[in-house]
Amino acid sequence: MHSSTLFGLLAAAVTVTAGPAQRQRRACGAAPGAAIKCPVVFDGRVKTSAVPTDFDSYSTSIFNPDYVKGQNLKWSEILQFPSASNARFDNATYKPFEVTISDDSIFQTQHGFRRAGLQFSGDANSGSAGSKGVKTLHFSLKWDAQRALNLSHEYLNVWHEAGDYSSNQFNFESGAILGQDSLPKDTWKLLDRQNKQIWSTPIVKDEWQNFAITLDFDNNTLQMYYSKGADPLKSVTSAVSNDNSGDGQYQIGVLKKPTGTDDVVNSGYQESNLNEGLIYGSLFLEDSDKGCISL
Ligand SMILES: *[C@@H]1O[C@H](CO)[C@@H](O)[C@H](O)[C@H]1NC(C)=O
Ligand SMILES: *[C@@H]1O[C@H](CO)[C@@H](O)[C@H](O)[C@H]1NC(C)=O
Ligand SMILES: *[C@@H]1O[C@H](CO)[C@@H](O)[C@H](O)[C@H]1NC(C)=O
Repeated sequence: MHSSTLFGLLAAAVTVTAGPAQRQRRACGAAPGAAIKCPVVFDGRVKTSAVPTDFDSYSTSIFNPDYVKGQNLKWSEILQFPSASNARFDNATYKPFEVTISDDSIFQTQHGFRRAGLQFSGDANSGSAGSKGVKTLHFSLKWDAQRALNLSHEYLNVWHEAGDYSSNQFNFESGAILGQDSLPKDTWKLLDRQNKQIWSTPIVKDEWQNFAITLDFDNNTLQMYYSKGADPLKSVTSAVSNDNSGDGQYQIGVLKKPTGTDDVVNSGYQESNLNEGLIYGSLFLEDSDKGCISL
């Protein structure tokens, strides 16, 4: 009874307020399937026809099948295809995918982390087209209540690691940032190369959240774009000064840091029987030469 009354009220409210603004918004491109305006440099959108084992070999994967994951796991054991709606730039040809972590998500000897990070096929640690000129990385995120992240930990979700592996040009993160207790846990955060937060937004658990980060490798800036659900992206920061030098690669997925240690790579506390994941869609890198950007 209650919910149908509420629905009636909401429907009435929508009818009353439907006006030029709403029509305008619809005309700009209803999601899913908003148009990409600029050349795509790396495409991380997963075709509806894709099956998990496609991600285990170079001939069929749009990502690097060998990295960055627990050695004893295949990507076909890490990636899931949840029954979520499509994200903003995924038309009917594409589907969302989920990156999961488990107790086996230990890369090489990094026993402190649990991690599974996708690298675009074609991206390279040195001399990559993705680390030159002006590029915009697009991704949309959806929370999975069945495999919720534990926001008492720090998570890297999307980042660009320098070629010498000594730092990341930016980190897009969630959870409790180690050493920065004043930052709320339940937000998505963009941190610069010095791990200083330059933007954040609350994590929404029932809707897609759409993000785009423009990296200007010539002028050394970062700029963030954001929207929720089907809405077009909007600029939410100016072009903030950042050291984008040092080449390297993008990584997309889940890297969970431990608690209770100063040596996060090698030691610290991680729960066992881990079953966590994050849903991704609309993943691609576009060429933002001459200010081009898909909103
Ligand atoms: C989806 O977009 C791709 C290009 O990004 C296009 O080739 C394809 O025809 C589109 N499919 C549909 C069903 O609109
Ligand atoms: C979340 O992480 C904290 C810190 O490691 C831990 O104490 C807690 O048990 C975890 N919660 C769940 C639900 O696993
Ligand atoms: C980069 O910096 C140069 C010199 O300051 C400026 O002319 C140019 O407009 C800047 N490019 C962008 C994309 O901001």
